[in-house]
Amino acid sequence: MKSIEPENKKIYLVTGAAGFIGFFLSKRLLEQDCWVVGIDNMNDYYDVKLKYSRLVALKEHERFTFIKGDICDKARVMEAFDEYKPDVVVNLAAQAGVRYSLENPDAYIQSNIIGFFNILEACRYNPVDHLVYASSSSVYGSNTKVPFEETDFVDHPVSLYAATKKSNELMAHTYSHLYKIPATGLRFFTVYGPMGRPDMAYFAFANKYFKGEPIRIFNNGDFENDLYRDFTYIDDVIEGVMRLLNSPPEKTKESACHRVFNIGNNSPVKLMTFIEKLEEALGKALGRKVVFEKIFEPMKPGDVPATFASTDLLQQAVGFKPKTSIEEGLQKFADWYVKYYKVK
Ligand SMILES: NC(=O)c1ccc[n+]([C@@H]2O[C@H](COP(=O)([O-])OP(=O)(O)OC[C@H]3O[C@@H](n4cnc5c(N)ncnc54)[C@H](O)[C@@H]3O)[C@@H](O)[C@H]2O)c1
Repeated sequence: MKSIEPENKKIYLVTGAAGFIGFFLSKRLLEQDCWVVGIDNMNDYYDVKLKYSRLVALKEHERFTFIKGDICDKARVMEAFDEYKPDVVVNLAAQAGVRYSLENPDAYIQSNIIGFFNILEACRYNPVDHLVYASSSSVYGSNTKVPFEETDFVDHPVSLYAATKKSNELMAHTYSHLYKIPATGLRFFTVYGPMGRPDMAYFAFANKYFKGEPIRIFNNGDFENDLYRDFTYIDDVIEGVMRLLNSPPEKTKESACHRVFNIGNNSPVKLMTFIEKLEEALGKALGRKVVFEKIFEPMKPGDVPATFASTDLLQQAVGFKPKTSIEEGLQKFADWYVKYYKVK
């Protein structure tokens, strides 16, 4: 496995660079003296101020270039590839979120299908060493066999979001086969941490608490059969992605050089346990007891009962498995939240 050396001269093009994962990945690459070109359309799906805060931090690095642009704009994408000639492309720009795909399906078709198609076309005409792109654990749909393995059947998504991510895997496979693009898809499992996404449960719960509002928990109030999620801490995600970035699949004449990896924690946690740990973490950060007011509701359409990643393939490929405990990860989130929003 190659490691990134400080003298690395490769150019990394990261789409969605002002997003949660894109920011931390860009930051890590820049800290290793890599050149990063970030693209983001800075949409207002969630608090844009948070995206600008991330950008401010990235712009401190002189090897960072930012393009405010939309990956749905094919001419703009082609122009960026032509101008910067990236060696490695990481496509993280997408319309994320399962529930929002019921409200605004168009955004998913635009960014996740058309946008990703434009990235593939750009890689077709501007050969790259490696195309890495975000898929999602949601491709496993309501599968009950756990842990979820990359070889499992994933042809029955239960949300349009999941369907776009599964489509991305098919599209990448085809382009990799036809044009010999070394490509790696990443099935992320509920990524959380400081500077995370305000639309995700842990962040939204903290927001509700500080507004003095109850939190809504969509688990039918059934603690026996609670929902499970394989929460994955952001630093672990970045470590896994960094290692994979530097070990592209080998090109062969016969088959596509495309593969897919789970990036998950391999240690699912009950939703109610997660909430309890979040209360404890916020309590520690504030120096007082925190108890959320809770309202229990039925599961939402598109939600899945459980996620649980097998990390065997990731371990075999790059010798790494996420290791951050939920207590440690949530404490880092809570400490950041209290400081960033100056809450008491
Ligand atoms: N965070 C998770 O738990 C998780 C889980 C599974 C998959 N993913 C996937 O990982 C990727 C990154 O997720 P994230 O959590 O950082 O989300 P995010 O929303 O924080 O980041 C995505 C960024 O892409 C930008 N963007 C969206 N559409 C764009 C477009 N058409 N053109 C240019 N920029 C655009 C947004 O402004 C945003 O800054 C996404 O593809 C997401 O679907 C994330």
